[in-house]
Amino acid sequence: MVEARLSFVHRFEPAQGAGRPPLLLLHGTGGDENDLLPLGRMISQGSALLSPRGKVLEGGMPRFFRRLAEGVFDEADVRRRANELADFVAEAREAYGLAAPVAVGFSNGANIAAAVLTLRPEALAGAVLLRAMVPLADASAGDLRGKGVLLLSGAADPIVPADNAARLAAILKDGGADVEHKVLPVGHGLSQADVTLAKAWLDSKAQPDNSSAKEI
Ligand code: MLT
Repeated sequence: MVEARLSFVHRFEPAQGAGRPPLLLLHGTGGDENDLLPLGRMISQGSALLSPRGKVLEGGMPRFFRRLAEGVFDEADVRRRANELADFVAEAREAYGLAAPVAVGFSNGANIAAAVLTLRPEALAGAVLLRAMVPLADASAGDLRGKGVLLLSGAADPIVPADNAARLAAILKDGGADVEHKVLPVGHGLSQADVTLAKAWLDSKAQPDNSSAKEI
């Protein structure tokens, strides 16, 4: 597939069949646009995959927004970058003829997805957030009614404190999202359980026909 020239370097794989929402794949710190394609194929076979590379560099490692220290975010940059990413999603939807995607983000990618849900909820149909934390200390979520969010946290995660993940779940619920929050007996890294649970959750949301524009 030859990708269109859009505002983010990205990979795009077209859908193979109908009924599955497109996935917006958002990598963790030091990843790139190739990282999560295998995960996307595993958890939602046949979905279109849109996978941008974060534009912020930290010691040469791509990220989706600036941080001041681990877990301490430059919130002005979070806002700017979340809007930039939501604009990219709109561009890509137009260029590739896509319904609103479900974000699948890991770590920094999950945090920018949470920021987009907070600031630009119309950009996403739902989200799978792997090891996410609250991206903006004082922001309440936008209107998330009708959107599904699967939040998978690690009980032994050294980066995301348990109460922070629980707070994120509460913020998203307050916005009206249908939030499923599970705490797995793992650390910050991805596990087989993440793959199994994300796949089951996406399978449960799949549409029997081509109505993938529906929010999940
Ligand atoms: C972040 O900066 O988004 C979090 O600290 C997760 C990470 O990327 O390490």
